[in-house]
Amino acid sequence: MTDTTASRGRVAGKRVLITGAARGMGRSHAVRLAEEGADLILIDICRSLPELEYPLSSPEDLAETAALVEKLGRRAITAEVDVRDAAALASAVQDAVTQLGSLDAAVANAGVLTAGTWQNTTSEQWRTVVDVNLIGTWNTCAAALPHLVERGGSLVNISSAAGLKGTPLHTPYTAAKHGVVGLSRALANELAAQNIRVNTVHPTGVATGMAPASLHQLLIDERPDLAPLFANALPVIMTEAVDISNAVLYLISDEARHVTGTELKVDAGVTLR
Ligand SMILES: NC(=O)c1ccc[n+]([C@@H]2O[C@H](COP(=O)([O-])OP(=O)(O)OC[C@H]3O[C@@H](n4cnc5c(N)ncnc54)[C@H](O)[C@@H]3O)[C@@H](O)[C@H]2O)c1
Repeated sequence: MTDTTASRGRVAGKRVLITGAARGMGRSHAVRLAEEGADLILIDICRSLPELEYPLSSPEDLAETAALVEKLGRRAITAEVDVRDAAALASAVQDAVTQLGSLDAAVANAGVLTAGTWQNTTSEQWRTVVDVNLIGTWNTCAAALPHLVERGGSLVNISSAAGLKGTPLHTPYTAAKHGVVGLSRALANELAAQNIRVNTVHPTGVATGMAPASLHQLLIDERPDLAPLFANALPVIMTEAVDISNAVLYLISDEARHVTGTELKVDAGVTLR
């Protein structure tokens, strides 16, 4: 792709940080933004956590996302960082921004999910989920902001339908995703004067690697009465990663230049129910 082609993209020439970029929705955001002319900083932990019942990404996954971005003619800088490590994240973002020249936006997308009834939810689960999903989102905003304060920018924090609804059987996740909304609203107020927009995106279910098998089992075996809370209003079981990426693209683009403090639902109506 030539620069002329990129200049026609909806985020042409923007530089965007994405966490959790090795696979799933993070990879989809990277590809969709690259298609529209962005260069990317791609961060992921690239190893599994013992507290989770499903594996996280590998270094090969992150390299594959970078290859997909480069195939589209855009730049991709990768770093293996745990978003819980604020200092390592800030340093990796600083290095990457030095290479790219500047930063326009960040997508705090890294997240993890545990499952359990209230009786079976452990303090380790609480700490891991809040640490990654809420404090990790804060760390991502904090790593990006020093590069945005002079020139304005867009922070997109990935919450969930569970960030707006009392979704059961994963209380730490629901609490952390609600926390992402509060964090984003507060930052939106604090940063509006500097032309930095802060918004959240709220997906319904998307088929990715984030799939703790016990959640499905809990709904079938222990609490089938709660299953309707997970049903979308529109006649689809799940949505697709690209549907969420299109929302992220919009919020980063100048089309959303006056949009801040919004909770953008891409939830097939699950929060209506
Ligand atoms: N899949 C869904 O149904 C769904 C629904 C609503 C919201 N979400 C949210 O979307 C986001 C993306 O999830 P996904 O479905 O693509 O899941 P996924 O597990 O496929 O991808 C998450 C990525 O984040 C990375 N990651 C996890 N912990 C990390 C850490 N501490 N530091 C750095 N990277 C880390 C993983 O390695 C993985 O590559 C998450 O915030 C998730 O909560 C997912």
